[in-house]
Amino acid sequence: MTSAGTIRDWVASAHSIAVLTGAGISAESGIPTFRDAGGLWKNFRAERTARGAHQVTDEQSRPAALYANMTPEQLATPQAFARDPKFVWEWYDWRRSVIAQAEPNAGHMALAQLEKRTADFTLVTQNVDGLHDRAGSTRLLKVHGDIWTLRCTLCGRERQDLRPNLPELPPQCHCGGIERPGVVWFGENLPPEIWSQAEQSASAAGLFLVVGTSALVYPAAGLVHLAKASGAKVVEVNPAETPVSGMVDFSWRAPAAEALPQIL
Ligand code: APR
Repeated sequence: MTSAGTIRDWVASAHSIAVLTGAGISAESGIPTFRDAGGLWKNFRAERTARGAHQVTDEQSRPAALYANMTPEQLATPQAFARDPKFVWEWYDWRRSVIAQAEPNAGHMALAQLEKRTADFTLVTQNVDGLHDRAGSTRLLKVHGDIWTLRCTLCGRERQDLRPNLPELPPQCHCGGIERPGVVWFGENLPPEIWSQAEQSASAAGLFLVVGTSALVYPAAGLVHLAKASGAKVVEVNPAETPVSGMVDFSWRAPAAEALPQIL
């Protein structure tokens, strides 16, 4: 039986399905991942334009290297934001503009369809790009937050802002406080209610799909172990080997947009 046929059978017979996605599912939409060759933590390039704004582009365009060799600690931590909020915001502003031009791909669409036909279904995503929402997923737990949400560092007010580029960096709240991206940075806790629902869905799942994540960042990666220990069949969809490849029931080495439509 083909790999797709096996997984289709598992999907059809599962009483409940939980899915964990990472940056890899959005790779085929043109959004760079974090840790692959050319990923955000490896190959970040930027240039200062004549207008003074930072324009960050990819490796192909060979601009000057403003953010080159940046580590997560230099961009995605509360300390980095406290040190230089404008610098951190420029990076997020660039990512917002890249994401705004992207469309959900066949992998996102397949998961939205899977939700419609599965009574007990939860999609846990580490992605902040909003492409699962745009594909139509609703039973969605964003454990690392949402890049389109802004949160005031002073009064805590949250708001959605879908403009690809914000007019002022850092953006300001009505109360006068600086706003921050509504994402979870390294060293921060995951939103407790969302995380607890994610753990529940992983431990209750009959089938757990882990798609497009390096499975290196915890606690999110721990959901794979939790699902397995709780008795789920675990299927990984990833063109590359990861630390969980050896413990899953099936490691499907394929890109998400190619593999996921085949399991429906
Ligand atoms: N389909 C499926 N998987 C893919 C594809 C694809 N088309 N392209 C790449 N991948 C895989 C890579 O092989 C890699 O294992 O996606 C994974 C991407 O890994 P990371 O870049 O580490 O992304 P992720 O696992 O989501 O990172 C976790 O780290 O920096 C933080 O907060 C950020 O949520 C993010 C977290």
